[in-house]
Amino acid sequence: MSRTDMTYVESLSPGSGRCAPRSAPASDAAALSLDGEWRFNLAAGLHDLTEGFEAPAFDAGGWDTLAVPSIWQMHDLDGEAPYGRPQYVNIHYPFPVDPPRVPDANPTGEYRRTFTLPADWPATGRTLLRFEGVDSAFAVWVNGVRLGDGKGSRLPTEFDATDHLVPGENTVAVRVHQWSAGSYLEDQDTWRVSGIFRPVSLVHRPAGGIDDVFAHADYDHATGLGTLRVEASADARLTVPELGIDTATGATVTVPVEPWTAETPRLYDAVVATDSERVPLRIGFRTVTVEGGVLKVNGTPILLRGVNRHEWDPDTGRTLTLETMRRDLELMKRHNVNAVRTSHYPPDRRFLDLCDELGMWVIDECDLETHGFYFYGWRNNPADDPQWREACLDRMARMVERDKNHASVVMWSLGNECKAGVNLEAMAAWAKRRDPGRLVHSESDYDSGYVDVYSMMYVPHDELERIGRREEEPTSDPALDEHRRGLPFILCEYAHAMGNGPGGLADYQRLFEQHERIAGGFVWEWIDQGIRRRTGDGREWFAYGGDFGETLHDANFITDGLVFSDRTPSPALVEYKKVIEPVRIGIDPADRTITVANGHDFADTGHLRFTWRMDDDGAAIAQGDLEAPAVAAGASVQVPWTEALAKAFDAANGERAVSVHAVLARDAAWAEAGHEIAWGQVVLPYTAAPVVGPVASPVAVAGGYRLGGAEFDALGRLRVLDGVEVAGPQLDLWRAPVDNDRIAWGGTSLAERWRHRNAGLDRLEHKVLGITADDRGLTVATRVGAAGAEIGMLAEYEWTYRPESGVLWLHVAVNPLGEWDFPLPRLGVRLAVPREYDAVAWFGGGPEEAYADSRTAARLGRYEAPVARMQTPYALPQENGSRTDVRWARLANPDGAALRFLGAPHFAFTVRPWTTEGLEAATHTHELVERDRLYVNLDAALHGLGSASCGPGVLPQYQLRAEPTAFSIGFGTERG
Ligand code: GAL
Repeated sequence: MSRTDMTYVESLSPGSGRCAPRSAPASDAAALSLDGEWRFNLAAGLHDLTEGFEAPAFDAGGWDTLAVPSIWQMHDLDGEAPYGRPQYVNIHYPFPVDPPRVPDANPTGEYRRTFTLPADWPATGRTLLRFEGVDSAFAVWVNGVRLGDGKGSRLPTEFDATDHLVPGENTVAVRVHQWSAGSYLEDQDTWRVSGIFRPVSLVHRPAGGIDDVFAHADYDHATGLGTLRVEASADARLTVPELGIDTATGATVTVPVEPWTAETPRLYDAVVATDSERVPLRIGFRTVTVEGGVLKVNGTPILLRGVNRHEWDPDTGRTLTLETMRRDLELMKRHNVNAVRTSHYPPDRRFLDLCDELGMWVIDECDLETHGFYFYGWRNNPADDPQWREACLDRMARMVERDKNHASVVMWSLGNECKAGVNLEAMAAWAKRRDPGRLVHSESDYDSGYVDVYSMMYVPHDELERIGRREEEPTSDPALDEHRRGLPFILCEYAHAMGNGPGGLADYQRLFEQHERIAGGFVWEWIDQGIRRRTGDGREWFAYGGDFGETLHDANFITDGLVFSDRTPSPALVEYKKVIEPVRIGIDPADRTITVANGHDFADTGHLRFTWRMDDDGAAIAQGDLEAPAVAAGASVQVPWTEALAKAFDAANGERAVSVHAVLARDAAWAEAGHEIAWGQVVLPYTAAPVVGPVASPVAVAGGYRLGGAEFDALGRLRVLDGVEVAGPQLDLWRAPVDNDRIAWGGTSLAERWRHRNAGLDRLEHKVLGITADDRGLTVATRVGAAGAEIGMLAEYEWTYRPESGVLWLHVAVNPLGEWDFPLPRLGVRLAVPREYDAVAWFGGGPEEAYADSRTAARLGRYEAPVARMQTPYALPQENGSRTDVRWARLANPDGAALRFLGAPHFAFTVRPWTTEGLEAATHTHELVERDRLYVNLDAALHGLGSASCGPGVLPQYQLRAEPTAFSIGFGTERG
């Protein structure tokens, strides 16, 4: 093969020899999957190709086999990684920016397989070879004849193979290049991997068949009528038995229907048929509009409770099974998520079938991002360079044509982070012409001249509020400004879920709900894109950027999801679920009522059942059902407490909490009956009876002091409590920085401030200023500060013991010295206890971790967990696991002996089998080394989390300021 034949790789052309894009509906026409094992050879680049590999006679017997679909870099990563390794880069292009050229080192996969054309395959018609996704450019041969080539990794491509197929055995050969001119259009923030990663098939197109259909199914909320018109590429018959429709395609039929919404995904089975082909369709009737600057579906404003979803699997990369797609949607639905932005490319098309079926608002995004040009002043940006027009339009057409029949898709997105440009404008115009029934979205177009929604990412709360009021800063041109001010707004990305966080979700939600202009937002992002690895001894961990020896990479910026890489929900997803719950439950103990406010946009609460529960000091003393009438969307109802609830409430004598739960009354397609959707809890103010009885005096003993069962060393540090060895408690201001502390785009991060030579919160020293032992107790005055630092804290520990109570109380008074012009990571005490006290129980907020600005989901209760389950396994270890508002916590050993910590009234509680320093030093979970002790933090407060790794930092009300603080903790033991 001569070099000239390879020009397509660096050509701006989107492809050659391809068929026109179409929806390619499933039908009864013959089809043959070509998925399975293919022969595979990985060449180093265009200089290293296998001459004649496409010829049927070529002997590939010595080649490896590789599964199609799959990503070649995902194979055997713990072994020899025979096909290279994944690379993660965010914005920068992974190769020299010299469009359209790509490196000579261009891994190129050569694939071959044979297949037998089924004997009963019809003799007439055409036969197409269909690729659902090949990353990034490829050429295709059938029986040695080149059919063409294509680009556009996450878009389908078809070639007409009819004239080159033979009865019996046929050979198909595909050459796939990791890099191509198309890679300049695919600079998405994700792993850079390649291969035939979506299914391949041979599809028969019968003569007189239906190559394409376009179902226009609108709903008129004023009349309740649906209007259906199905365009087909051939004259055909349309039947919708349930609606009594039997008509010619192209005709418009209007009938009463139940509309489709993401909350009520009503689909009607239809069939489009000619004599030679039968195409089943699932029709959802709905109308998407912008009216009065508000985004509406079926005449009703909708609120998007969304996530950005990359396609990712920790073992197979961008190749997902149908089960994984369904699992994603089930998890989303179970966590009240109602919208997906398919960041930043069209997903496997089966995902959209599931969205139609289960109910999800979808922004379908084109496979287009040119973010890397940002670093060079957007010079030569393909999105704004007419030379790339055809390539951009081709991508838009392939997405729209493929996905146009999905009720779930309500907006077409032009792509992500391409700035703005003439090609985007052309794409928008084309899409509006082709499909006037959907809105056009583009995040990059801040002037919003050619789009239907105003969309931005990571907007801080105060700016969002201005946008909500339509009081944002004007844009460049008055006409554009007027247009934009009349648009609805969506936050296409917000709340960067990297590591521990995000904080501030509830504050965003409040703004979304307050301002009709704001149609909601999409958390960045759904899943941590970690890659599963195993240590030699079989321990699992998740790799991120840099773990495969990449020289250019963006580290753990790839692990920023609401679910961990293995799809277990992170605490952030649990928080999000609560923040966006579509039903709000208010409980009023004064007038003994419960208010159910239905925040659904369409569904009434008829699908829910309500229960109540009365807790006395965290123990349920009564529970029952609550009869509440079905509440219409947007309405609310107030019901009185049941008699049983009122009775239990009056009988309780400890701390009282009333909870009401809304659960699914019946099985749904995505969760079983009983699954909780929303809850409310009210906790009554409570003051424990004061501790009385005489105070014991400390005794000076050799090497220290004794107070009741407590032994202190000569520096006044607690060493033994009722025979149990402990170390501390001492003032602790440090936390292993979370990603949001650590990353500051262009500024000084909080973690840098904390670690600065003038602060040194990570290396505090404790100097005893004086110890007083008198009849009030033992008082230890200290000054806490770091080498080199002038600022510090005075910390005074006052120990008192009342033998009658058996509890040793520590009262800590903290006073900052000098100027602290930054917030503190935490303020509390840390101590170490023996490792075997592993069984944790607490009465407080739970069950998950909670921080100042991410605590909506924490509910008061009694919880139990082993220490291991108190840790949250962020891919890059960092501060985690703090339980909020803890009244008491208990650590028990296997004999049942326990240490108890009491709040006055409460504290934040963390327990780990490693130190904060160990947590901070580890770069992956498997590097965390358990010690022979447990480390307990009892905090008066912690700094919030914010979203500064991409977005705003911690809001003022959740910042932990250095100011005079006093708090008390009780210490006690229980015998086994
Ligand atoms: C956005 C971008 C996303 C992702 C995110 C940070 O700017 O659109 O793809 O990079 O930032 O994780």
